Amino acid sequence: MSAQAAKERPESLQFPFLDDEDTISTIKESKTFFILRGLPGSGKSTLAQAIQDRYKDACKVISVDSYKITPVVRSSLPEEYSKVDEDLVEYCKREVSVIVLDDSHHERERLEQLFDIADKYRYKVIFAEPKTPWRVDCSQLKEKNQWKLSAEELKKMKPSLEKEFLPMYFGWFLSKRSSEVLRKAGQAFLDELGSLKAFKKESKYFASAIEDPKIKIDLTSYFVKRPPGVLHCTTKYTEFGRAAGAEDYAQQEAVRASYGKGFTLSISALFVTTKTVGARVELSEQQLLLWPGDADKILPTDSLPKGSRAHITLGCANGVEAVQTGFDLLEFVKLEKAGSKGEQVGEIGGGRLLYFENGMWLLALAKRLEVRAIFSGYYGKGKLVPTQSTNKRGSAFSSCTII
Ligand code: 2AM
Repeated sequence: MSAQAAKERPESLQFPFLDDEDTISTIKESKTFFILRGLPGSGKSTLAQAIQDRYKDACKVISVDSYKITPVVRSSLPEEYSKVDEDLVEYCKREVSVIVLDDSHHERERLEQLFDIADKYRYKVIFAEPKTPWRVDCSQLKEKNQWKLSAEELKKMKPSLEKEFLPMYFGWFLSKRSSEVLRKAGQAFLDELGSLKAFKKESKYFASAIEDPKIKIDLTSYFVKRPPGVLHCTTKYTEFGRAAGAEDYAQQEAVRASYGKGFTLSISALFVTTKTVGARVELSEQQLLLWPGDADKILPTDSLPKGSRAHITLGCANGVEAVQTGFDLLEFVKLEKAGSKGEQVGEIGGGRLLYFENGMWLLALAKRLEVRAIFSGYYGKGKLVPTQSTNKRGSAFSSCTII
C-alpha cells in the first residue's frame, strides 16, 4: 500500500490492517475473522468493501444482509444464521485467510457462536467498528440504514454496542506461518532434549514421561495440553473486563492504537520445566508500551525488569494451566538475577543448552527467532485442550504435540 493511497483514504477508513504494510503482510499469512460491529447504516459494508479491496482473493465477506436477516433486538437468533454459519465453516475449511463478518453483532449469543467457530478452525479475531461521524447518531442512521429501522429501534440496539467488549486477554497472536515455525522449533527441542544423556541423568523430575530411560524420554506426551486457537503472547489478562485494571488497560492510547496491528516478536530462548514448555520473548521499547506494569511478579515484593514474563506457551503437563508458563519463566529470570547462569550442558541444535535446577532447562538460541503477530484479543472460552490418543503401552493417554 503506498503512502499516497493511504492519504486518499478517508479518516473513517484508516486502520492498520488497511494502511500498514507490515500488518497487511502478517494478516496475509494468518487466518483472521474481522468481526465488524456497529448500528445499521454506520458504515460497516463500506469498511467490509475496503477490506475486500485490500486483500482481494485472500478475503471473503459474509454480509448478513444477503441472508435477509434484519438487525433488531430479539429474544432468539433467527434460523437463517445456520445458513450463514454453513458458508462461514466452508470458508474456514478452505483456510480462507481473511473472513469479514458484516453484521451489527450486538448480541452476545451470536458472538459466542462466532468465537466457537474461530477457535475450532484456529482463526484469530479482530473487532472493527466504523469510524464514521454519524455512527452513533440515530436520527442520521434512521435515514441511512437500508432496513428503514426507526430511530427508536436503533436506540434499543445502541446500549449493547456502546459497551466496550473486552476480551479474555489481550496479546500478540502469531501468524499461521510463524506458529508453524515456532511449533517445529519447540518440537525439535523436546525431541533432542529427551534423548540427551544429561537430561536422562536428571529425568526423575519427569518420571511420568519415562517409558525406557535408556532410549528416549517422551516429552511430547509429557506436555499433554495445548493452548486453544493460535499461539500467542499474552499482554494483559482482562478476564472479559473482570480483572483488576482491565478497563484502564483497554483505554490506554498505545493499546487502542495497536489493536489489529502487526508486530514482529523476537524469541531468544526456549525453556522446559516440569510443568510447562515455552518460548521467551524479548520485547522492544515499542512493544513494552503494551506491557502492563504489574505483570512481572510472582510475589508482590519481586522487582524484575519490565517484560521479564513475556512468553509464548507451547505446552503444559497434565493438570497444569497455561498461566503457569509465565511464572516458570519468571523463576528463570529470578535465578539469573541472583547470579545463576545455569550449568552449560553444551551446544545442541539451535543453541546453547543450560541446566538450572529442579528440572529447569533453557535453550539460549544462537539466532533469535523472529515471529510475526497481530496485537488483538482472545474472546473465546480459552481452556487448554488435551487430545486423546494411545501411547506405546496401549493405554488411553492424553497426548498432543505442542501446537
Ligand atoms: P499464557 O499462555 O500466555 O500464560 C488462557 O487461559 C490464556 O490466558 C492462557 O494461555 C494464559 O496465557 C492466559 N492466562 C490465564 N490466566 C492468566 C492470568 N491470571 N494472568 C495472565 N495470563 C493468564
